Amino acid sequence: MNLSGKHILLGLSGGIAAYKACDLVRRLRDAGAEVRVVMTEGATHFLTPLTLQALSGHPVRASLWDETAEAAMGHIELARWADAILIAPASADVMARLAAGLADDLLTTLCLATEVPLFLAPAMNRVMWAHPATQANVQTLAARGTTLFGPAAGTQACGETGEGRMLEPLELVALLSRHLAPEQNRPWAGRRVVITAGPTREALDPVRFLSNRSSGRMGFALAEAARDAGAEVVLVSGPTALPTPEGVTRIDVETALQMRDAVMTQMPCDIFIGTAAVADYRPLEPAPGKIKKTADQLNLTLVKNPDILSEVAARLDRPFVVGFAAETEHVLEHARDKLVRKRLDLIAANRVGEGLAFDQPDNALTVLWAGGQAELPQADKRQLARQLIELIDQRITPRA
Ligand code: PMT
Repeated sequence: MNLSGKHILLGLSGGIAAYKACDLVRRLRDAGAEVRVVMTEGATHFLTPLTLQALSGHPVRASLWDETAEAAMGHIELARWADAILIAPASADVMARLAAGLADDLLTTLCLATEVPLFLAPAMNRVMWAHPATQANVQTLAARGTTLFGPAAGTQACGETGEGRMLEPLELVALLSRHLAPEQNRPWAGRRVVITAGPTREALDPVRFLSNRSSGRMGFALAEAARDAGAEVVLVSGPTALPTPEGVTRIDVETALQMRDAVMTQMPCDIFIGTAAVADYRPLEPAPGKIKKTADQLNLTLVKNPDILSEVAARLDRPFVVGFAAETEHVLEHARDKLVRKRLDLIAANRVGEGLAFDQPDNALTVLWAGGQAELPQADKRQLARQLIELIDQRITPRA
């Protein structure tokens, strides 16, 4: 993450996520940015300007009517100083005021008085985020070129669960870096990544199939994150209702055999990530016509499908191979066994079951590799995907 020499004007609006701003200022400065902080009146109820002054190394401004501060650096001068404005947290209120073009405090005035890119990291209760008024404001702001980072889904400070959590400081810095200095922040530029996603369907007869509850969300989120890291991405997807991420090449398949064939046509590649929930078995012989309801019992004979991940890992020109392990029990034990048995470089283990991982907007992963492991706590799958790409990047770099 490189923001060296960039002037970031960090706006804080009122919300409990303001506590994350301390870490955010530190991370921005670690990435090389110079940071000046402007707070709304609401934000000062959650954090003191003095704290942020100490962390940013500059006086913090909270009022348009502060004569001393205006004399030192007027608000128009401050607007000109910035290379970008990031508002984190961005409350529903500040977003509404920005959408309406109001300039009723210093922060909104600066946003009107600048031509530099504006980035918002929304943070609010899930009902406020989903409200048609907020969503209309999001549309208006996006149409004017404002970029939204998040929000993520997960447990909220109010005790509810849903969309509206502010992204973590590290992710905000990574996203900002990619927008402001794309050339220095595309670690996977020149790399080809193949990702499998979604379920497979194994036909029983012309109208019925065996399948599972995978929605494809995790694999699609990984495709987006790999693309954002600069990679050329091919997504081999089983049947899902998800739109193709922009800039990603998608190959649709239905069965495990089709998925295997599609993956093999994309070899060699630099990184392979097997997120798909591939059926381990398929009916030996799908019935040519619709199976009739005559017998009291029906026995199915299933045969093993090829293991795509193992086949990729066994190639002489093998890429860096990342697998997933979906387990209901002894999660780490089974995942470590798969890591070794399938000869993977890395495996992301998730506990599955009712309401867990499959077809959920969020998840939690334990990532294992030879000699190490990392916990990625419960978070939106897009957030987890970016963290996983970061971990892969740390492990792959020494081999490149
Ligand atoms: O799609 P979502 O709703 O977002 O849900 C995400 C997920 C739960 C599907 C995902 O996080 C996940 O766990 N994916 C792997 C599911 C799975 O089938 O796990 P497994 O433990 O059975 O398989 C281990 C690994 O081998 C996986 O990387 C799988 O892609 C791969 N495999 C399995 C069988 C097979 N025939 N070929 C394979 O390549």
